[in-house]
Amino acid sequence: MLWTIFLLLNGLLLLVLLYATRTRQKNEPPLDKGVLPWLGHALEFGKDAAKFLARMKDRHGDIFTVRVAGHYVTVLLDPNSFDAVMNDTIFLDFTISRNQLLKRIFSLQLPSIKPAAERKWMEQHFQGLSLSKLNSSMNTHLQNLLQSDQKDCSPSEWRQDGLFSLCYSLLFRAGYLTLFERRDNAAAVYSEFRKFDHLLTKLARSSLNRGEGKTANLSRERLWELLSPNWLSEGSESKSWQQSYHRFLHEEGVDAEMQKRALLLQLWTTQCNAGPAAFWLLGFLLTHPEAMKAVKSEIRGLTLRDTSVQHPPINLLEAHSTPVLDSVLSETLRLTAAVMINREVVQDKILHMANGQEYHLRQGDKVCLFPFLSPQMDPQIYQEPQIFKYDRFLNDDMTVKDKFYKEGKRLKYYTMPWGAGRNICVGKEFAVTAIKQFVFLLLTHLDLELCDPEAKLPPANPSRYGFGMLQPDGDLQVRYRLKKTHR
Ligand code: HEM
Repeated sequence: MLWTIFLLLNGLLLLVLLYATRTRQKNEPPLDKGVLPWLGHALEFGKDAAKFLARMKDRHGDIFTVRVAGHYVTVLLDPNSFDAVMNDTIFLDFTISRNQLLKRIFSLQLPSIKPAAERKWMEQHFQGLSLSKLNSSMNTHLQNLLQSDQKDCSPSEWRQDGLFSLCYSLLFRAGYLTLFERRDNAAAVYSEFRKFDHLLTKLARSSLNRGEGKTANLSRERLWELLSPNWLSEGSESKSWQQSYHRFLHEEGVDAEMQKRALLLQLWTTQCNAGPAAFWLLGFLLTHPEAMKAVKSEIRGLTLRDTSVQHPPINLLEAHSTPVLDSVLSETLRLTAAVMINREVVQDKILHMANGQEYHLRQGDKVCLFPFLSPQMDPQIYQEPQIFKYDRFLNDDMTVKDKFYKEGKRLKYYTMPWGAGRNICVGKEFAVTAIKQFVFLLLTHLDLELCDPEAKLPPANPSRYGFGMLQPDGDLQVRYRLKKTHR
């Protein structure tokens, strides 16, 4: 027993020494190991990645390597050099980190799936004809849910709710009913999913305490059951998105248990971003009266131009452009979409930066892009980047503003809420339409106002940097009722 402990301690010491002795070599990015052996900067990174990385950027510039829980992560913050990472599929790999996360968060293993085949399957279902069907189904569900949620109270009565709960609950349930087969349990899936989502960042960082671990396991199991359609074992031939997904997994050699678990991954991927995005968008409008006025005036213009009041909103939005609402959405996502793009260095690599500098990346390290910090919050690109300016993405002639510069060079990537390259969000068009439909629906059907006219938007929960759309710490209380014309 003593010998085992002695050997273990020796092994541990050797590991610590090995990691502690890493020094910066010629041509490598600046190295910042932090003071804690092995852990390095893990605590700061997990607590508030944006704050930590902004501090590192001030200290080291646009590229540096930090130690995080035994890993060395090279962070690249120059958007003009992003292509050198995103286009490299030989020296850099994205499947290793992804598979680790799938296992940790969803207890899911899909090693046999080829990324290109999966991407092709997804594109079939979120583009072209399938996309129009999804859009109109989403619109119907949104309208039905808005009406059925109102039916318990008298039409002229004000209701009070947190804006985040209102947006997330409506968009999640409508999205679920659009994509998933079971019609009977949308509310139960939503409430269970929120419990799971609450623990998701800790699951990803393996930092759950024992009680939280139990809750996460139970919640995951309950969601697997709730998402399983009745036909799962019967091999039915219909062509729904969910059935097509099962067929795809089956053909890729995934067993029945993993097929069942994969549905939770799909639920998360397809439903966790749109609700929070709609919350921030409406929250910015409610706290910036000049922006709300501009959007309402644009919407009034649409409805006046179109004499048929019965027109479903989807057609109105499809038939006419909405440059103001589009700019509001881009500005919202610039401020609140915080994806991290991660790669594993599988062979030593020379990284060519746009400014001509070259850096050596070591095999076994990770590379991370964090577009939230740069380009999205970069003061060299955006004046007063912390501030919401609803017309930031509008030219004077009301066309989309898409020319942004850093150090005199026009940027290909000036905002990246959807990721980019071969992993760019497959559901982007669907998500944009859904959010616009939702905002349109709420502003045309509801009187919606802040409970406290002086209220401010709550801050973002800092532990969610790196996980897509940010979520608020707290909520914004609103009151609403059906407009007279819709009662
Ligand atoms: C505001 C809403 C949304 C945002 C900001 C967003 C953002 C993103 C981002 C950044 C990625 C890439 C992640 C990575 O690099 O690993 C992604 C992937 C993906 N998104 Fe979205 N998304 C949104 C809504 C949606 C919706 C509504 C759907 C579908 C209904 C969807 C489907 C997907 C899928 C299937 C992928 C995986 C693509 C792949 O692995 O190649 N997203 N999303």
